[in-house]
Amino acid sequence: MSLDLESANRTLGGLRPYPVAVTTVADGRANGLMSLSAGAAAIVPEAPRVTISLTKYNLTHDMVVSSGVFAMHLLANDPDIIDASLAILMGLGGSSGRDGDKVAPFATKPGVTGVPILLDALSYVEGRVVHALDVEESTIFVADVVGAETLREGHRLNVGEAWSKLPPEWIEQYESNHVPQVDSARRNRGLIA
Ligand SMILES: Cc1cc2nc3c(=O)[nH]c(=O)nc-3n(C[C@H](O)[C@H](O)[C@H](O)COP(=O)(O)O)c2cc1C
Repeated sequence: MSLDLESANRTLGGLRPYPVAVTTVADGRANGLMSLSAGAAAIVPEAPRVTISLTKYNLTHDMVVSSGVFAMHLLANDPDIIDASLAILMGLGGSSGRDGDKVAPFATKPGVTGVPILLDALSYVEGRVVHALDVEESTIFVADVVGAETLREGHRLNVGEAWSKLPPEWIEQYESNHVPQVDSARRNRGLIA
């Protein structure tokens, strides 16, 4: 029986609806990206853990492998802050740090691990990686939460709301940038030459 991809995607898609801004620092250089892969990774309330999955194609992946630290920020969806949230999403998710400093345009402060904390975010956790699972196309990182802060009260921005407010030309650019990323993942899994 052939695999029912439509049902697989219907089941798996949208399970993690909150786009998070991941920042890191390695060798004195800051960078970050957007991710839809973040989640809680522990049930012990006094010792939280966070997980993210980063594609090997992305510079942030190599930097987290090297430094073992990152921050994971939720973005806000309230009228006074939505423009700043969309600017972070477009700034970190729209291009690679290989092409320039993506973090510099944003207001930041150093976190306890030294990673840049985005001051316009809703809240964040900072993590030190304790396990990393290589899954060929990406690495799944699990980190002890070593810092956390609520920066403002408000509502989380979910990906559907974000997508409905982003400029169509940015979405088009993002989708075309995504193609080589998926091909790289296919290559890393031996699905194409
Ligand atoms: C909503 C959204 C979700 C994303 N989810 C992930 C993800 O889970 N993992 C990942 O590696 N990249 C993800 N990306 C892609 C990266 O954010 C994007 O490729 C970024 O430009 C990589 O930058 P870098 O090369 O500086 O690390 C996502 C992008 C967007 C806009």
